[in-house]
Amino acid sequence: MLAGVAREAAPMATIVHHDLDVPLGFLPDASQDGVVCALVIHHLSDRPRFLSEVRRILRPGGWFVLSSTHPTADWGYFGGSYFDERWVTRSFGEATMEYQLMTMSTLLNEVADAGFVLERLVEPQPVEALRMIDAEQFDKWSSAPIFVALRAHVAG
Ligand SMILES: C[S@@+](CC[C@H](N)C(=O)[O-])C[C@H]1O[C@@H](n2cnc3c(N)ncnc32)[C@H](O)[C@@H]1O
Repeated sequence: MLAGVAREAAPMATIVHHDLDVPLGFLPDASQDGVVCALVIHHLSDRPRFLSEVRRILRPGGWFVLSSTHPTADWGYFGGSYFDERWVTRSFGEATMEYQLMTMSTLLNEVADAGFVLERLVEPQPVEALRMIDAEQFDKWSSAPIFVALRAHVAG
């Protein structure tokens, strides 16, 4: 993925390979206009610490776009209690991923507790073009969300 980013975005972007379970020490306080965090947060072992780091590096009024697996999609796949926020392993093709289940309230409250105000919550549905490519997946993803995304900004 980083090689792909390097191909597409260099020299406009600075690319840093960093473990997000470790504080973002390479970024000063209030140094960023916005942060996009796509489908990573559920892999982290200390989400509140990561979210407080995102809050720290954003300037006043800075924006935060976050996405994750949808809690009800995970619940439907893994079963058991919706409220059991356990670590799970899931395979996608040849890739195996470990991540932590969380409820919708856990996700939203952790974002709020880090000092963010929610602007939008999105439960994406497939675009119409998918129907022509894969009607079965189109019907499946049109009837239940698989991802959740939100936009928030720094409170105050
Ligand atoms: C589901 S993929 C999402 C990739 C990409 N952001 C996207 O939206 O297509 C999850 C990604 O999280 C990364 N990841 C997992 N734990 C991480 C950590 N502690 N620090 C940084 N990245 C991590 C994995 O390497 C993987 O690339």
